[in-house]
Amino acid sequence: MRFDVVSLFPDWVASVADWGVTGRARERGLMSVHCWDPRDFTRDRHRTVDDRPYGGGPGMVMKVDPLRQAIQAARVDDETPARVIYMSPQGRRLDQAGVHHLAALPRVILLAGRYEGIDERLIQLEVDEEWSIGDYVLSGGELAAMVVIDACARLLPGALGDALSATQDSFSQGLLDCPHYTRPEVVDGLGVPEVLRCGDHGRIERWRRKQALGRTWERRPDLLAQQELSEADCRLLEE
Ligand code: ADE
Repeated sequence: MRFDVVSLFPDWVASVADWGVTGRARERGLMSVHCWDPRDFTRDRHRTVDDRPYGGGPGMVMKVDPLRQAIQAARVDDETPARVIYMSPQGRRLDQAGVHHLAALPRVILLAGRYEGIDERLIQLEVDEEWSIGDYVLSGGELAAMVVIDACARLLPGALGDALSATQDSFSQGLLDCPHYTRPEVVDGLGVPEVLRCGDHGRIERWRRKQALGRTWERRPDLLAQQELSEADCRLLEE
């Protein structure tokens, strides 16, 4: 999968592919991140990318031209067709299903805005999808773009050490994750649930499923409401 990111902070965004799972996915050739600075597509001495808003008001608005040229430069840099994704609080809220949708695309051009936003006409002319990473406002779309890259990268076949990890993640089955433990066996008097040390994998699986269901019930009942629970799950909840 190829990510192109249009951002005023290209080095920062590119660093997402230097570490951890994303770093390994890049090294393995599963994905690449290419950054495009709209300032490189300006022609004035000050490399101006923003201007005052029509109608007045606080803050500045990103101009159409430098962004449009950066998107165009990204597009023609590779023949793989790309969808242009604008990261903004006005977008569709990202969840794991949304990550699956994005990770299935061969190439995305992520647009990270700054200031009060970008000229609406750029969105009309160039943007295919608008996504938000949550109902709060960041000072720019860079972190949101990095979130998308990270969440997609871990779904690419071969990115995770253990192929089962992605399918067992929180949300991948529409539930929160169960608790996890590792050595030592006791920490400040707190032990490890006996079931996890019994070696009976059927029992362990049932316990994990019950914990996941219970936590989701307690913390995110909205997620459970969207689920069709199996008879086995209902029995686990009643135990
Ligand atoms: N840019 C600023 N805030 C954002 C958010 N919540 N999601 C995506 N992009 C953003």
